[in-house]
Amino acid sequence: MKTLLITGGAGFIGSHVVRLFVKKYPNYNIINLDALTYAGNLENLKDIDGSPNYTFAKGDITDEVLITKLFEKYKFDGVVHLAAESHVDRSITDPFAFIKTNVFGTANLLNAAKEAWKGNMDGKRFYHISTDEVYGSLGETGLFTEETSYDPRSPYSAAKASSDHFVRAYFHTYGLPVVISNCSNNYGANHFPEKLIPLSIHNIKNNKPIPIYGKGENVRDWLWVEDHARAIDVIFHTGVDGETYNIGGNNEWTNIALIHALCEIMDRKLGRESGESAKLITFVKDRAGHDLRYAIDSSKLQRELGWSPSLQFEEGLEKTVDWYLANQEWMDNVTSGQYQTYYKKQYEER
Ligand code: NAD
Ligand code: DAU
Repeated sequence: MKTLLITGGAGFIGSHVVRLFVKKYPNYNIINLDALTYAGNLENLKDIDGSPNYTFAKGDITDEVLITKLFEKYKFDGVVHLAAESHVDRSITDPFAFIKTNVFGTANLLNAAKEAWKGNMDGKRFYHISTDEVYGSLGETGLFTEETSYDPRSPYSAAKASSDHFVRAYFHTYGLPVVISNCSNNYGANHFPEKLIPLSIHNIKNNKPIPIYGKGENVRDWLWVEDHARAIDVIFHTGVDGETYNIGGNNEWTNIALIHALCEIMDRKLGRESGESAKLITFVKDRAGHDLRYAIDSSKLQRELGWSPSLQFEEGLEKTVDWYLANQEWMDNVTSGQYQTYYKKQYEER
């Protein structure tokens, strides 16, 4: 019997991780701690709500008293830490929110784990989920490896890089048994429509412009979110203390090529003429400090822990579109209220 704290489990990736762990490990007691910010949504987990091995706790990772109390109450054996402010554009307009949650929140969890586990760290594990953006921006060639120097360039990636450094500092200074993974761009169900793929699906469906930053030549390496959740399972259970693992899809697309592929799928699914959705593509002012290219070398994870991505992108993209079309109510709920204000500020007033 293990008791695990998963943070940020009501968000995009966290919801897939919580579902996988709750279903695969009925003998684990899983506590999902999430502040339910605009990005957190308990609808993402309604199918497992009520499972005997699952508890939801609403709370903020920056709250020192709460985190200490949770460690005392549940006596966690492990932490899988996903809670974060995750959107680069929001980090440009509100960097301090990212410093607070991503840096201070992570340090707060590390410290609580250190205090709770001091004296006996056997069988304990603190797993920090991070991003490939800490490595900066690639030119036209090359891949990020675990040895690539950190070179974060947005407030989001600087805050994530800082949190990674704190995790390693707790390993070296206090012997906290930590493991870190740095993953490329995820896509799939439950992705909040501030990010490129779900935002574009939503706009195409509603015949609204698809905003492409700059010339659409930036490259991202896309990974099916359930493949990321599987990697997290493998790393949590078999990764080596103090190690870092890169996770990626080996699947690079320029934004413009991706959006054209998405438009074709949407034309087919919505019964539109081929080329109709692509007419919505609109080039807009570039993101400040926009990283040109991310691409991950995940050979360490593949070689040492036996993980590999399962799904081809075309199939994954089609499944993603199917999910959004079948879950219109989910989209309606997350795009009402606050989202309208965000969208106006980000796209109509910039
Ligand atoms: P998300 O924004 O969809 O979800 C974040 C979750 O964290 C939300 O449920 C939110 O309510 C919660 N949260 C935010 N602040 C909190 C706080 N102070 N206390 C408690 N909960 C809080 O993010 P995501 O895309 O699912 O990303 C999850 C993690 O994976 C993040 O750490 C992110 O940096 C990392 N990551 C994401 C990607 C990606 O492509 N989305 C890729 C690599 C790594
Ligand atoms: O690489 C991993 C990272 O991927 C994660 O750490 C982040 O949490 C996650 O948000 C994601 O960051 P990106 O900035 O790459 O994702 P986003 O979907 O915001 O943008 C993908 C690309 O599309 C990027 O080059 C910017 C561009 N873009 C984005 C939006 C929202 C547009 O052209 N138009 C848009 O409206």
